[in-house]
Amino acid sequence: RGAGHVSVIIVGGTGDLAKKYLWQGFFQLYLHQAGGGNTFSFYGGGLSPAEKATPLLFEILKTVSCSKDVSPERCALLKEQFLRLSQYRQLKTLEDYQEMTKQIEEQLQQEGMVEAGRLFYLSVPAFAYADIAEKINSSCRPSSGAWLRVVLEKPFGHDYRSAQVLSTQLGNSLKEEEMYRIDHYLGKQVVSKILQFRKDNQRFLEPIWNRHHIERIEIVLKETLDVKGRIPFYDQYGVIRDVLQNHLTEVMMLLTMKLPQNLSSSDEVLRNKLEMLNSLMPLGKNQAVIGQYQGYQEEVQKELNRTKDRISHTPTFAAVVAHIHEAQYEGVPILLISGKMLDERVGYARVLFKNDVFCLQNHNNVHCKPKQIVFYFGHGSLGYPSVLVSKNLFKPAGTDALWKEVTDHKDVAVLGLSVSDYNVQVPAVDKEAYAELISHIFAGRKNSFVSTEILLASWALWTPLLNSLTSIFPRIYPGGSDNGAMLDVHLNGKEIKYNSEVVIISPDEMGG
Ligand code: BG6
Repeated sequence: RGAGHVSVIIVGGTGDLAKKYLWQGFFQLYLHQAGGGNTFSFYGGGLSPAEKATPLLFEILKTVSCSKDVSPERCALLKEQFLRLSQYRQLKTLEDYQEMTKQIEEQLQQEGMVEAGRLFYLSVPAFAYADIAEKINSSCRPSSGAWLRVVLEKPFGHDYRSAQVLSTQLGNSLKEEEMYRIDHYLGKQVVSKILQFRKDNQRFLEPIWNRHHIERIEIVLKETLDVKGRIPFYDQYGVIRDVLQNHLTEVMMLLTMKLPQNLSSSDEVLRNKLEMLNSLMPLGKNQAVIGQYQGYQEEVQKELNRTKDRISHTPTFAAVVAHIHEAQYEGVPILLISGKMLDERVGYARVLFKNDVFCLQNHNNVHCKPKQIVFYFGHGSLGYPSVLVSKNLFKPAGTDALWKEVTDHKDVAVLGLSVSDYNVQVPAVDKEAYAELISHIFAGRKNSFVSTEILLASWALWTPLLNSLTSIFPRIYPGGSDNGAMLDVHLNGKEIKYNSEVVIISPDEMGG
């Protein structure tokens, strides 16, 4: 069914995530759809009674903003309409859910509207998912023809077993096509363009996207903040569960999966991702280096009220080398690296090519800098283009118009994103990521979400490593270090020289 009325229900509608990103994302959706065929009503749901939470919800709703291309007058009008379409509902008991459904259906009937769908965004702790999904299943399903979509946030389990239990519980109430598991990295502009980039440049990339030409792949998220205030969550999870199992694994899949014929076919995209995950060699403790920043133990003692003798083994830094067991990539190391309290905040993936292949015709071989493609997926890009391609590797498709604008970056070619997109601030990136994903939920684009099969395959990869690390104490590193030395020591034996000095790559370093 096409256009019609859509009910959006954010369970946890006055919580942190809703406040920071979700209402803004739904307002943007409303802006884009206003004037189109769809009509909306928005419900902020929560455990508190309406008298208490309604003013709070409206305080949040008043903070939404329009993009620059909307005039202030039109923006004020749209905001007013958005607020009029929104309300708070206490959603605690089954009766509360039934009452809301009754209200939705009465409104549809009174206004003679056709229903397009119901979108539930569960912005609540994961332990509440199964119970809420059950309530939705038993009392909030739309009548035939309209869709039901239920959005979930990580953590999706703690290991393979718990992820499986949670998936089974959810599966008792919801169909696979109704579940939208969010990984906000899939909403990041650069991440969401990796497959498109590979496709646009397939002619150049296909011959070199293999073990004969690729030296290694690095997927890196370095953060400068500590985890103060988040210890009750973080200490149970640690960096591998928090970031590697999901965000960095998603990026790895996009870089190495078989290129789908049709990028908008969710089935094909998800199938190829799964195939890639299943072809990874098992990970063991020899493939990992883990660290913990100095002072973490004290934070744990304070926030968890622990005594000094109870030591936490939770890693706040990890570097893992993965390998794909497949002819195309056999022997190509894939490094996944992330940590808190490091020397810089930067996130990127880069494919480094073998110099001896690309520098042969270069008379000045000594000066031949590594050939590489870098995708900056967020903060830290310091105003450089989001995608850098070394000169002479090839000139990416869609860069003609931009070529002139980056003449000061003569060595590189850039992906066809507008120049203003290159220098986005961190909060904007997340806001954009959520707004982007919300529009994909609305459009039913399942390929931007984590399917049950992929979730379980990812946990199947990471769980044995996590289990093997429980008895190992992470190496302590001082806050603000780059940890390059730690990696060199541990990974050298595998012919990987992680050069921490080139972690931030400027266009000048891309070299010809
Ligand atoms: C979140 C993690 O999922 O991702 C955080 O829980 C981490 O610990 C964050 O900081 C990183 O995302 P981004 O968008 O800031 O790179």
